[in-house]
Amino acid sequence: MSIETPARQAPAAVLATPILEVKDLVVRYGRGRKAAAAPAAVDRVSFTIQPGETVGLVGESGSGKSTIGKAILGLQKVSAGSISYQGKDTTHAGAGQRRALGSELRAVFQDPNSSLNPRQTVGASLAEPLRIRGVAAPEARGRAEAMLERVGLPREAVDRYPSQFSGGQRQRIAVARALICEPSLVVCDEAVSALDLSTQAQVLNLLADLRDERGLSYLFIAHDISVVQFLAQRVVVLYRGQVMESGPAAAVTEDPKHPFTQALVAASPVPRPAEQAERRTLRESMGVRTASSVSATPGGCPFRQRCPLATEMCATERPALRVVGGSDVACHYA
Ligand SMILES: Nc1ncnc2c1ncn2[C@@H]1O[C@H](COP(=O)(O)OP(=O)(O)O)[C@@H](O)[C@H]1O
Ligand code: SF4
Ligand SMILES: [Mg+2]
Repeated sequence: MSIETPARQAPAAVLATPILEVKDLVVRYGRGRKAAAAPAAVDRVSFTIQPGETVGLVGESGSGKSTIGKAILGLQKVSAGSISYQGKDTTHAGAGQRRALGSELRAVFQDPNSSLNPRQTVGASLAEPLRIRGVAAPEARGRAEAMLERVGLPREAVDRYPSQFSGGQRQRIAVARALICEPSLVVCDEAVSALDLSTQAQVLNLLADLRDERGLSYLFIAHDISVVQFLAQRVVVLYRGQVMESGPAAAVTEDPKHPFTQALVAASPVPRPAEQAERRTLRESMGVRTASSVSATPGGCPFRQRCPLATEMCATERPALRVVGGSDVACHYA
């Protein structure tokens, strides 16, 4: 990812009621004894998002990022802990409460086909969430045209089909569909991950502009920490369903305290070849093992089998999050 100037406007109003509060969230997949014995996909995760704030959620594939996103959107059952939206508990929200939340809380996924029906015109897809909320057809069409224009597409796009657009344009349409109901929180799950670098940068800039002009909050999920760094004011680093480090974006990405965050930063691509080579040397000297070389084992620090600093204590005691230099870090030795 070759974006160099992080856009971190809109500092959070720290004293306001959070838009979102996730507290000790646990999600287990499956049922019965087997599920209870398996490690939780999300294991006691807590964070808040303030109005106008972007929180980045980063971690390797399988670390539980999408599961957290789905739990917030009501698409995945919560096993324990709570989720509140603007101070109201939505952990086990029923259909009625979810419908009411539907225009407040929207999502953009990696695959635009998950929100755009390939057999529907773009206009019909965009108008759908408005029509559900009782907006008349001509007004919905007008708002769809205006929204398309705002995301950088021609108004005539309403009459075309998703397949007539490039990947980047389809992702702009997905953003338009997410924003047409004027939500206050948008969950972006790997929203730019399938795009090439220059298209990624354009869509990230669009998301930053829309956030700043509308006071939106984002939960911005990605596996690449440099993508997250571009938009987020705060970053939460996940490993095997647990928070390893969280704090202000600059502290977490420029001065990571946890060995796993250090490995993530060292592994993220940079545009300058000399710096890339330096990072490769650093990465190798850190002695962090690859994800495929270890299997999951319960107890202790979840990162211990890959960690070059691991001791006996790391195998028996799960490190609690504690404040280290302005961030919360879960490591006995940070
Ligand atoms: N529908 C499912 N059924 C069972 N296990 C699942 C399901 N979805 C995800 N998982 C498991 O939960 C863990 C977290 O997955 P996910 O949230 O998709 O991670 P990420 O988005 O970080 O790649 C993984 O171990 C994955 O295999
Ligand atoms: S607690 Fe131990 S194993 Fe875990 S990250 Fe820290 S040093 Fe490494
Ligand atoms: Mg995912």
